[in-house]
Amino acid sequence: MDIFDEIIQCLQNEKDQYGNVFINRDHLTEFFANVAVRTASAGAARASSGTPAIRTSLSCLSGNRRESSAASSVPPSAAMPGHQEPAASPERRHPAVSNTESQAVSSQRPGPPSPEEVASMDWNQLRQATFRCHGCRLCETRTNVVFADGNEHAELMFIGEGPGADEDAQGVPFVGKAGQLLTKMIAAMQFKREEVYIANIVKCRPPGNRNPTDDEMASCLPYLLRQIELVRPKVIVLLGSVALKGLLNRSGIMRMRGHWLDYRGIMVMPTFHPAYLLRYEAGKKDAWSDLQQVMKVFGKVYRKPH
Ligand code: URA
Repeated sequence: MDIFDEIIQCLQNEKDQYGNVFINRDHLTEFFANVAVRTASAGAARASSGTPAIRTSLSCLSGNRRESSAASSVPPSAAMPGHQEPAASPERRHPAVSNTESQAVSSQRPGPPSPEEVASMDWNQLRQATFRCHGCRLCETRTNVVFADGNEHAELMFIGEGPGADEDAQGVPFVGKAGQLLTKMIAAMQFKREEVYIANIVKCRPPGNRNPTDDEMASCLPYLLRQIELVRPKVIVLLGSVALKGLLNRSGIMRMRGHWLDYRGIMVMPTFHPAYLLRYEAGKKDAWSDLQQVMKVFGKVYRKPH
């Protein structure tokens, strides 16, 4: 039985006593990554029993849960900021930090890690670093950091622009209308969504769905570059002009789409963003032709039925 099992047991007792407390091991792992800062800010506040740091943390946790369950009729699992339902993909097992949590510690945390530090991170360090990131103004308005979705060993990676409202709410990329189209595009390519890796140029939602600025993209880029390095896919599909600009500093998606490019020895295919395809149906034919080039790399062929 480790510290987390003990805390889960303790919370279970609280749940029995007070009602709903939604917590699982992943929330606690994330929570305890910040515990030192929280405990320092809590000053002399110490509970009368148990390990002091743990008691302080538990008070925070259980307090939040009680507030949310008292304040609304929404089930606590859905009301809890940063909560994500368990899902098949590995990324979804790592819930993002909520705005409230990240803002609570923002004034006390050091600046973001340097690109060199990010470049040597493992998956867990990288996830944690992005969840805590305050490297640009987008952190101020985000609900969730949207790290990625899919298979960390994927041979095929998709890179979009940045989270929209649905992604910000759920902490998962490409789950809104454009995401549904992307999922269909992936299926048409004879891949399952869980087989590929999906990320964005920026991990926090630009307010009002505006494009991310150059400095926001630059600030977030080291995280994406490390994700690419760790996944090491065979092919990257860049979705739209922001992805093209953000990763390769190239502009002109109309001209560049359908042409193979290179990122550090990885084949890169730029194509239209699904949100564009939702607005401009006729672009789908071109996008499909681009995706078929990608399929060929994997020995997948689409034959029209006669
Ligand atoms: N558009 C993007 O570029 N990324 C998302 O995650 C969702 C919509």
